[in-house]
Amino acid sequence: MTAFGPGKVILLGEHAVVYGYAAVAGPLSQGMTARAKPADRCELKVPKGISKHHRQALQRAFERAAQNAGAPCVKVELQSDLPLSMGLGSSAALSVAVAKVLLEAADRAVTPKNVLALAAEMEQEFHGTPSGVDHTTSARNELLLFRRKPGAPNGTAKVLECPKPLHVLVALCGERPPTRATVSGLRERRERWPRRYERLFTEIGRVAEEGAEAIREGDLEALGDAMNVNQGLLAALGLSSPAIEGLLATLRRAGALGAKLTGAGGDGGALIGLFRDPRAAARALARQNIHCFTSQLAGPGGPQEANR
Ligand code: PMV
Repeated sequence: MTAFGPGKVILLGEHAVVYGYAAVAGPLSQGMTARAKPADRCELKVPKGISKHHRQALQRAFERAAQNAGAPCVKVELQSDLPLSMGLGSSAALSVAVAKVLLEAADRAVTPKNVLALAAEMEQEFHGTPSGVDHTTSARNELLLFRRKPGAPNGTAKVLECPKPLHVLVALCGERPPTRATVSGLRERRERWPRRYERLFTEIGRVAEEGAEAIREGDLEALGDAMNVNQGLLAALGLSSPAIEGLLATLRRAGALGAKLTGAGGDGGALIGLFRDPRAAARALARQNIHCFTSQLAGPGGPQEANR
């Protein structure tokens, strides 16, 4: 038994989504694969080369999911073609892949609802109180306008259809602080200066909704502008850095219609550029030894068509 969980990029609205505002996120073609083989008990083969902290979190998350799925007698192995801990939803992709394979092994229906519920349990072990945008995007494998009201157990997601192919170039900007630390640092600043930070979150939510409208209309220039403005707001929240801004300038010089950090940011991590066709820019960045790859998030030839 084999199952795949795609990674994700947040096109618009990270961080504000934690406080109930809208975000736009789409699935990557890169992700995590889980393979299950018959065994004496339900167990996980822990990947080599990960830190003690990550190993413990992974074991706890797996045990929680295994118990909820009825502990089918399988040994689960993981494989990734996604950069880890860079803001590309690797823990959510892992949670979705493991949830699918455990449900299948337990002869339970592999429906989006069941996958989401099991993946949410695992994500809580990894992140505490995530907004849910990562595992919802991975489980649905579609470009989504996502929102979760503060305190609500689950978010709501609307599928965003795009009449044009929506391609991003993902570029990596080096190691970054853990999501949990960046989210809690921002929470402290918001508690100290609530009115100013609420204004910035409100504006990010509006930009995400305007970007969603641009996607529905196939207006990539308007979407690119929304991404640039969102990046300015993330910088105002204290989530950017000279290294991030430098690489964003490189993406824009390479022809990006819009560029921003994606995920928790802080310093380093993954950045995205929106391109009509990202191939020439990917080659130009690779020549500068910048680790990057391309992915289509929506539109003709994208993941939504593959789902049907
Ligand atoms: O950097 P990642 O992939 O862990 O994404 C975090 C996204 C946040 O909006 C910052 C947090 C959340 O729970 O949505």
